[in-house]
Amino acid sequence: MTRKPESFFEEMKRYVGFSDEDARLLQAVGARMDPYLAGMSERFYDQITHHPEAGKVFTGGQEQIDRLKRTLQVWAKRLFRGPFDEDYAAERYKIGVRHVLIGPPQRYMISAMGVVRTHLQKSLGEVYPSEPAQLEITQLALDKILNVDLNMMCESYFQESIRHLRELNRRLERANFELAELSHVKTEFLATTSHELRTRSIPFWGSRVSFSMACATAAMRNVNCFAMSIPAPNTCFPLITTCSWTLTKARSQAQFARFDLGHVQAVANFSRVFA
Ligand code: HEM
Repeated sequence: MTRKPESFFEEMKRYVGFSDEDARLLQAVGARMDPYLAGMSERFYDQITHHPEAGKVFTGGQEQIDRLKRTLQVWAKRLFRGPFDEDYAAERYKIGVRHVLIGPPQRYMISAMGVVRTHLQKSLGEVYPSEPAQLEITQLALDKILNVDLNMMCESYFQESIRHLRELNRRLERANFELAELSHVKTEFLATTSHELRTRSIPFWGSRVSFSMACATAAMRNVNCFAMSIPAPNTCFPLITTCSWTLTKARSQAQFARFDLGHVQAVANFSRVFA
């Protein structure tokens, strides 16, 4: 009979040596830790107020912060209740994913866990003031489960980032493919355009290329490339004049239009990929 493969959660518990005895130690102290959890939430959010970059993700005012303070206490309660099974793992992983979507950088998760750890370890000291042996083993158990919890969060950050990069790569590949197709159309166009048109169109193509380069650069800088034409009527006017001149001279207008449309499409694609 084949054995069920070990889950990420099980492996991480095994790595830090989190045992059934550790689970029992945490559950034994659970109810006595409850009165310390509100203070933990206060400490947690107080620290965030000293870090504007971390605080940016709170967009719902005091009401949101109050709600999250309660959510954090529910999270901490489960540290001392378990059961430390796959359902626990899935819940912790989901919390991580929620944060990836909200956007605080991963470094804040790690530091925030440090704040939580210090507070809870200190609180355990107050729960077991005269039982040093019990205190020591319970603190070790707490350390282990916090390490596993942090690992679940970091893993979700990592997996979500990979997913995002894959998606970006897929879009880049699509844009690349479209660019290659357009380049082919351009080669065809140049091959069938007469020498006269090409030489007389130089000013037009010159402006067109600079304009497109500017668009692509703007797109990479997250600037809407269409907006560029609005504040630059002085640039656009000679360009449009040259355009109409060239259009009247163009021998293969159908191909010209095809190339031109394709060109705009390519710039728009750049815009989408780098947006
Ligand atoms: C030890 C680290 C942390 C833990 C255990 C934790 C825990 C949680 C939990 C349990 C939730 C609710 C998730 C849900 O509703 O699905 C949550 C949501 C949230 N957390 Fe954290 N968090 C941590 C770190 C942080 C940090 C460092 C920030 C900001 C810098 C942050 C900002 C938020 C925000 C903005 C939400 C959701 C807001 C909403 O739903 O309105 N968290 N967190």
